[in-house]
Amino acid sequence: MDKHSTRKHIVLVGFMGTGKSTVSHLLAERLGCKAIDTDAELERREGRKIRDIFAEQGEAAFRKIETSVLGAVLSEKECHVIATGGGAVLAAENRELMSSHGLVVALKADPACIIERVGKDAARPLLQGNPEVWVPKLLEDRKHAYDFAHLAIETAPLTAEQVADQIWERWQQEAGN
Ligand code: S3P
Repeated sequence: MDKHSTRKHIVLVGFMGTGKSTVSHLLAERLGCKAIDTDAELERREGRKIRDIFAEQGEAAFRKIETSVLGAVLSEKECHVIATGGGAVLAAENRELMSSHGLVVALKADPACIIERVGKDAARPLLQGNPEVWVPKLLEDRKHAYDFAHLAIETAPLTAEQVADQIWERWQQEAGN
């Protein structure tokens, strides 16, 4: 057994709008495994939208549900490419879960790029009102939150396919994959 033998999944972390979902589908197709989005899975299990959970119960309640969904997804036996919510990295418990069960890849992008991609998206409660203020502030608050990843990729100059290529290469290098 090699030291990475428990890394069953590829786990994509990164700020909102860094392309986690798009890249997860490209990678899953190449690996012949399933792509799963923890936000979508959370909404499916709860039967309500993330923005409604935030509005009805607040962020702390959302984070608790997020941890339980993440744990359930990571315990799947088959390999999955998992796209996580941008704040899933905030809890140490989640970071530990992710790095012990998967190859964790952080996708990065600059504030302007993020604002252009998701600034107007009503589904993201943390960006409502003034994304030009919230995006740089949250990026600053979270500037070290993604440091635990095994690999980090600056996505701005790359296509989603090129991002997937880099992750694919790293996955191949990992013994046993
Ligand atoms: C959040 C990111 C969102 C979603 C929720 C909170 C965050 O996911 O989980 O709105 O705290 O950064 P995406 O990164 O998929 O937008």
